[in-house]
Amino acid sequence: MSKDKSTFLEKSSELIILLVSLYGSDHLLNSLGLRDKYKYNHDYLNPLAITDVPDLKKITLGPISIPTLTDSIPSFLWIAKVAFGVFYTKINELVYSLSTKLPKNILDPIIAEFKEANSEFAKAKDEESLNKALEKLASTLEKLSQVPGLLDTFSPTDNSLESLFKARFQEIESKISLDSAKDGELAKSHIDVNINILKNVGRIVTILAKFQAKAEQAKSANQGSIGSPVTPRTLEDYNKVFQIVPKPDISNQLFQSDPIKEDLIFAYLQVGGANPVVIERFKGNDNRLPINQEQYSAISILFGSPDSFNQALSEGRLYVSDYTLLNGLVNGNYVDEDTNTQKYTFAPVALFAVPPKNSKSRSLFPVAISFPQTTISQKWELFTPLAKHTTREAWLTARSIVLAADATYQALISHLGRSHLVVEPFVVPTYNLPVNHPVRRLLLPHLEGTLFINHGAHTLLVAPKQTVDSLLGSSIGADQAFAAKAAQSYLFNFNQISFPEILANRGVKDTTDLPVYPYRDDGLLIWNAIEKWVQNYLEINYKDDSHVLNDADLQGWASTLASFEQGRLQNFGDKNGNFGDPSDQRIQTRSYLVKVLSTVIFIASAHHAAVNYPQGELMSYTPAYPFARYLPSPTTNKDTRSFVDGLPPLSQAINQINLLYLLGSVYHTKLGYYYYPNSSYPDSPFTQSEQGVLEKFQNELHNITKTITERNAPGNGRLISYKFLLPDNIPQSINI
Ligand SMILES: [Fe+2]
Repeated sequence: MSKDKSTFLEKSSELIILLVSLYGSDHLLNSLGLRDKYKYNHDYLNPLAITDVPDLKKITLGPISIPTLTDSIPSFLWIAKVAFGVFYTKINELVYSLSTKLPKNILDPIIAEFKEANSEFAKAKDEESLNKALEKLASTLEKLSQVPGLLDTFSPTDNSLESLFKARFQEIESKISLDSAKDGELAKSHIDVNINILKNVGRIVTILAKFQAKAEQAKSANQGSIGSPVTPRTLEDYNKVFQIVPKPDISNQLFQSDPIKEDLIFAYLQVGGANPVVIERFKGNDNRLPINQEQYSAISILFGSPDSFNQALSEGRLYVSDYTLLNGLVNGNYVDEDTNTQKYTFAPVALFAVPPKNSKSRSLFPVAISFPQTTISQKWELFTPLAKHTTREAWLTARSIVLAADATYQALISHLGRSHLVVEPFVVPTYNLPVNHPVRRLLLPHLEGTLFINHGAHTLLVAPKQTVDSLLGSSIGADQAFAAKAAQSYLFNFNQISFPEILANRGVKDTTDLPVYPYRDDGLLIWNAIEKWVQNYLEINYKDDSHVLNDADLQGWASTLASFEQGRLQNFGDKNGNFGDPSDQRIQTRSYLVKVLSTVIFIASAHHAAVNYPQGELMSYTPAYPFARYLPSPTTNKDTRSFVDGLPPLSQAINQINLLYLLGSVYHTKLGYYYYPNSSYPDSPFTQSEQGVLEKFQNELHNITKTITERNAPGNGRLISYKFLLPDNIPQSINI
């Protein structure tokens, strides 16, 4: 473990303490009506419109920089949830490093206790229950540290970390008490819970820092560091990295003894996996996929649904996932203390088919995968699941290449580009609207924490030599350019990005041709419910179109979004306005305003949830979703080298868990529940009649939960239940 990681822990814990202290001030400033004016900055992720954070409103700790504009700091509960996730993955890494050194009878009961703490965390709904989970985590870690032979043989050279925490706690204790005395809103019991959370944070960090200091000491004394990773050669090596972090079920589903079943899971991931937004209708005549009739028939028989290629094509039952967009990425390096390794990115295409009507199962099956042999060659090698055509090893490698492309697409395009960065331009004009403006009251909770997390993303995550740079196969400049381009593809076509239009554009709306598509089916239920709620809400606030047109604040909001100097949206406004044509950028009808707000709310809630939470449940398992290959692609479909040889090294599998499990485990707020713990609205901002239509929305979300639960029941067509769009699993905003 490097020195950097040790300072990371210290910095991140100090950050938590600072944030909590600022949280109190933010609350006070808000209650006095002292809000910062927001504006754009186009240089952070050039040329995108991102909220500007002036130096005076920024706290910088090492590589970490946090914005402190009014309303930008998420609630205390959010901070504590992130802290839990950071520590839990760090402890997983520690336990992994000890797993070969400690006897099972000592380690297993401790692992069980850590897992209990995690299930308490998953159920925690408020500060108090979260503190109990943190308390358990801290006491279990203390128990681990007392195992003979671990920290008892270690004498730290200094205890500055402990004294730092003590001093900080005293500071914050008096600060929180002072703030609560001033505005009288934080109850005494609340303060106690918050202080206890911080104390538990201190306990955990102090022990983790000692373990890391010991590892450093051992390393410099040449005794070998704790947890030096063995070179992985089998899937079992990757499984062992999951000590207290749950090993995703996909580890068994995608790699099992039945090749047919696992290939069906591979296909299912296109419609119910981590990035179910690529698949589109296949139009035929694609020389990159030179599949012949005979091969297609044999493959359809292999999957138990005899079929002919021409019939499947004419009936619209062929679908393609085309990742060739990724061709522009530049291969990067993996650099650690000892090595500098070449990573590889890929831009494959994959063909899938739906069995004919009246088949027993109508779930997609894979037909073929191909990718160019070099970036300049015209030769596309075809891989199929047919044993006489492709060796199993080569087919598994081809599958792995598709999922590596899928993971890269998810990270840069679907997740960062088309959710985080598409919502960002709405932050500035919405915060600047008058406090009681109906658009502000409705939209603000759907933007909670977005400026904060996006600032973290562009300063800490998607930056040179940081985590994304290390994990992804491509180099960081290309990553940033791809994310920006993906965001622009939506922001420059704003009037075509509503959920139903996106599905129609890819030719995947028809439920007869493509019957099993959980993301589409559950997403449409959520889209319809959001649209109805927004419509009902706006009907209360705008009697007719003329009220919309004459709302000067609303028109100011729209022109800020669509102006080149500011939000840089194109094809915005009822008349598809472009830059330089301000009259067409106006919002002229109530129905158009419904569409705009529904689109933003859907992307900020449902779309983000669908691509964010699989990071923990699916993508934290590196053999299923590698971010890169560490070997070139096979040049022939008769290749016999195991796909495992090309997977990222074990040290990268740990980094992948640390980042993705954290991002996929923080659930903060719930769609349809408008609670404003730390903003201009102390309670619900809604009037009685608005509250009435809100309850209809909440009831509808309740009904949707029942429908999705039924769809997920075994035997209803879904190979894996799809939980990412269950309303309870969808936060209101992009805050992680
Ligand atoms: Fe996210």
